[in-house]
Amino acid sequence: MKILVVGGGGREHALVWKINKSPLVKEIYCAPGNPGIATLAQCVEIAPTDLKGLLSFAQQKKIDFTIVGPEVPLTEGIVDMFKAAGLLIFGPEKKAAALEGDKTFAKDLLQELGVPTAKYRVFSDAVSALAYVREQDFPLVIKAAGLAAGKGVIIAETLPEAKKAITEIITERIFGTAGNKLVVEDFLVGEEVSLLAFTDGEIIIPMISAQDHKAAYDGDQGPNTGGMGAYAPAPVLTPTLLEEVIKNILKPVVRGLADKGINYRGILYAGLMLTQKGPEVLEFNVRFGDPETQAVLPLLKSDIVPVMLATAEGSLKDVQLEWHPGSAACVVMAAGGYPGKYKKGHVITGIETASSLEKLVVFQAGTAFNDGRIVTAGGRVLGVTGFGGNLREALKRSYDAVEKISFTPCHYRKDIGFKAVRK
Ligand code: AMP
Ligand code: GLY
Repeated sequence: MKILVVGGGGREHALVWKINKSPLVKEIYCAPGNPGIATLAQCVEIAPTDLKGLLSFAQQKKIDFTIVGPEVPLTEGIVDMFKAAGLLIFGPEKKAAALEGDKTFAKDLLQELGVPTAKYRVFSDAVSALAYVREQDFPLVIKAAGLAAGKGVIIAETLPEAKKAITEIITERIFGTAGNKLVVEDFLVGEEVSLLAFTDGEIIIPMISAQDHKAAYDGDQGPNTGGMGAYAPAPVLTPTLLEEVIKNILKPVVRGLADKGINYRGILYAGLMLTQKGPEVLEFNVRFGDPETQAVLPLLKSDIVPVMLATAEGSLKDVQLEWHPGSAACVVMAAGGYPGKYKKGHVITGIETASSLEKLVVFQAGTAFNDGRIVTAGGRVLGVTGFGGNLREALKRSYDAVEKISFTPCHYRKDIGFKAVRK
């Protein structure tokens, strides 16, 4: 088969790495890819948002199966477009992708289905939002309803903070049109976990759970990032809780969408808060998580390609996933300054040495070639992923490898997996 992967970050490197192991696959293309991906696939200079460009490339190269990494092309309707052209593609259609693209759609659906999630209200003007927050207890969570690259969520501890967030989102539109509407939510307390599942609109096959580390610094301090590391599985999601999530969250949502005429095919990613009352939905994503994918896929024993094909074709009924025992841990090495301002173009050394270590893979995210050398080209630069019989072993492998890699300025969290290790 000829496969096209859309995207060029750490998630897509992990996807290409796993897809490349499939005996079904002859050629892999990646748009736009990155230097790490270029060791496994042919990278093509097409942006993930250039839907027409991607379609004509897929037609011209006679791609058998296209796999979409990031959310934007999905919410823009890449799947509808490819299907209309008779091409096979992995991911939900535009209407289904609204589960991530429009938080008001997701929250309204959850409320309608009685799926546990924080109490919320939707606003499209600052005056009524302000009137509402004045009557609420703090902290409150204020979210731009649209896509904001993971940055559109503000936790307001006080009324002035809430006012500032509302003004920024609705009046100043700091997240652009993503802030046409905003959601004000009650603050949920508990431990977070990500559960990703394959679904063809009927059958749901969960992957192993994972935990992201969204805060920039150790101890969950500092500003939110796209994710500073992840490990899998996350023992906090016990088998009992997993059953509960499947029964009370994933199944009703997939069925609820089907009842609205939306056949959800692709990855359904539930961001969950494990509260004292039980698991509640923080958000849905309609694609693989980043960096969760970097920790989950190294543990997947099954060939991923038949699973993705069955997902896209609606035949997951006969599919089963096999997993390696043990754990994986991904440590994100980020550019100094990230998630704030940072510079690009710093030379990275040691990737090869680190990659030659056992049970270790260096996934590249924000990297580029410059004069034959690999340089930094983004905030999250590398996802250094170790695996092993248990989480401690996986973490040791990751951190030993991080020691071999250098670029300046760089920062990374030294406590990935601390919640699980502490237990
Ligand atoms: P979201 O993009 O909606 O997942 O929000 C990003 C992050 O904000 C989550 O991973 C949580 O850490 C935090 N968050 C979002 N909603 C809530 C909530 N209702 N209560 C507590 N924390 C939240
Ligand atoms: N890890 C969070 C995300 O992929 O959105």
